Amino acid sequence: MAASDSEGERLQKVLARVGIGSRRSCEDLIAEGRVTVDGEVAILGRRVDPETARIAVDGAPVGVRPDLVHLLLHKPVGVVTTADDPQGRPTVVQMVPDEPRVFAVGRLDVDTEGLLLLTNDGELAHRLTHPSYGVEKEYVAEVEGVPTRATLRRLREGIDLDDGPTAPARASLVGDAPGGSAMVRLTIHEGRNRQVRRMCEAVGHPVRRLVRTRIGPIADRALAAGSWRELTGDEVRALEVAVADPTT
Ligand code: URA
Repeated sequence: MAASDSEGERLQKVLARVGIGSRRSCEDLIAEGRVTVDGEVAILGRRVDPETARIAVDGAPVGVRPDLVHLLLHKPVGVVTTADDPQGRPTVVQMVPDEPRVFAVGRLDVDTEGLLLLTNDGELAHRLTHPSYGVEKEYVAEVEGVPTRATLRRLREGIDLDDGPTAPARASLVGDAPGGSAMVRLTIHEGRNRQVRRMCEAVGHPVRRLVRTRIGPIADRALAAGSWRELTGDEVRALEVAVADPTT
């Protein structure tokens, strides 16, 4: 239900808090009819409950809930993505603050390093991992041997794995590595178990090292293994745009 005249927070205040602009410029956005609340164009003076309102600027959803956190971790090798490990190995949730409790969005194998999102935003996590939204994940793999152009084409067109063919992907050689190996950049938009390792293995180039370098619009070359940071407001909005429902 919409917050009445006296309930909730002023819309421009909520928008300013999440970094859309100053209160004044947010008032201008509202006056220009560029802000919607629950799908309806908002008018100046509108109050909202930031915990429940679906707010969008120029059609792009704005994450305004103060209770939500979105962390970006550079998972090192040897750390598991599950919350508890029966073998007692370190877990990704131990690498970030305990409060508020967050969970990993999707998973990386224990041997894979690179970017992993952790959040308590269930709706965003669901969309980011659901195949129908097709969010891209980019990996750089060091593989044994040097794949030919024909092999890269096979990786792009789809590989028959034991759980079915892979969807079209992007694959390119980014350089040779020492010891008869090569660096391959692979961009996929599925999240099947050990998918990149299995794709490379299937074309005769087992993976020696695998790093996830991008999740949709989120990349950070400067984030060292074992470090984490909060996503910026712009990054959260970019993720929300990446998984926005085109029908709403
Ligand atoms: N593909 C893999 O093989 N492993 C991962 O952790 C992610 C994608």
